[in-house]
Amino acid sequence: MGNKITYSAINRRVESTTNSQSLLDISQENGIPHLHECGGGGLCTTCRVRVLDGIQNLSPKTSFENASCHARKWDPSIRLACQARPKGDVTIQRLIWSSGEVNNLQKELVPNGHAEERPIAILFCDLRNFTKIASQNLNFDIAYMLNKFYTALGEPILMNNGIIYQYVGDEIIGVFGTTGGTAQKNCEDAIRAGLGMQYALDTLNRTDLKDIEIKLKSGIGINFGTAYIGHLGHPTHKQFSVIGDPVNVASRIQNETKTTDTNILISDTVYENLDQDILVLGQEFSNKLAGKEDPMHLYELVGFKNMDLQLELQSSMNVMLKDEEEFAKIFYEKVFEQAPFVRALFRKNMTDQGRLLTHMLGGIVYSLSRPEHLKRGLAKLGKSHVQYGVKAAYYPIVKQAMLETISEVLENNKTERTIDAWNTALDFVIDTMKENAYA
Ligand code: HEM
Ligand code: FES
Repeated sequence: MGNKITYSAINRRVESTTNSQSLLDISQENGIPHLHECGGGGLCTTCRVRVLDGIQNLSPKTSFENASCHARKWDPSIRLACQARPKGDVTIQRLIWSSGEVNNLQKELVPNGHAEERPIAILFCDLRNFTKIASQNLNFDIAYMLNKFYTALGEPILMNNGIIYQYVGDEIIGVFGTTGGTAQKNCEDAIRAGLGMQYALDTLNRTDLKDIEIKLKSGIGINFGTAYIGHLGHPTHKQFSVIGDPVNVASRIQNETKTTDTNILISDTVYENLDQDILVLGQEFSNKLAGKEDPMHLYELVGFKNMDLQLELQSSMNVMLKDEEEFAKIFYEKVFEQAPFVRALFRKNMTDQGRLLTHMLGGIVYSLSRPEHLKRGLAKLGKSHVQYGVKAAYYPIVKQAMLETISEVLENNKTERTIDAWNTALDFVIDTMKENAYA
């Protein structure tokens, strides 16, 4: 109680209010966004911090924490904020800042120094006509465009449990399933990422790049197979590497999108691993790829037949939370207009509160591709809401205000499917929060 916790990167010092609080509890109490995908269960490691000072003032490691440290070979200064309880002053630094970074954590569990075979989906995405664009624009403008392109098109890879493996010139390469997952899950993640990338490029052309004459286009090739994964290279400079024939084939499939004038092509192995009933497919090709004896069967991927919850949420989220503060402001104004009596429950300043809420919404959309942690996190959030004085009857008011805010903020960047998806997602979030909170 009264221990001083300093967050070095943001230069903030706060005090604990009870002796049983974990570092994560203290962040939350003080409105400091702190990722905690499993809701403080010691399982996801997203809440990890580096302890810069006062490590002796933290409670000993729990068994969960010991297991995580051991698997990842962390140095002793890294602790899980949800498990460590301060008994004196400490200075910490949060290590995982964005949900996207969570995906990079997958690389920690990849073998060091040798490669192991893993079944993965590989996606190559190429920016069309880049040489022409490069010859017609100033270097500065090209760099600006490339950064926009890499950011917008990288997000769908990260949101679908993939990792951005490499940028090669004007190409982005994503891999799905480096730490496991079924063949179907890895292929589904990859095609959802491919469709999300198309959507993101379309949005980019209509928004940030609308004043630039050239419209960006992409070509995407997706393959599935067993590749070698590991940290390879000179002992002083090892790199995360994915090697093998399925990777080369994915690159060649991407090349075929040029000759066939298609946007997304998937290989027959991807096709076979998917539930084909949910997909809209276009043309089929039997093409001989460079360096291959036999022709390969390729399918043009057009989209999902019905509303796909994850794709709709992912595709709308970046536009929706482009100005997080504005989103939160509109939302809370609506809540307090409809239910002025709940105003008194909020103790924090509303900017901090808004930041926590939008951070959480973003986290929920990211976590939908690995739902095992999400349910735990939401159940815990539901229980905290009982402590905040929130009654079950308040949830419909908040849901309505949220849907209206989403609709207002998205303006003409939404369809009926988008609102449908948010409606379904909010029902899931609220049901999970309420499930064990109100007996
Ligand atoms: C869609 C469902 C909801 C989500 C995702 C959500 C999210 C959050 C988050 C992330 C926090 C920050 C603190 C924490 O992580 O524990 C929070 C706090 C809070 N929420 Fe919610 N919430 C939801 C529904 C509601 C409802 C229905 C109410 C009722 C009015 C409510 C009232 C509050 C209050 C009073 C706090 C604490 C504020 C403080 O300590 O000053 N929330 N919520
Ligand atoms: S391990 Fe701490 S929140 Fe998941």
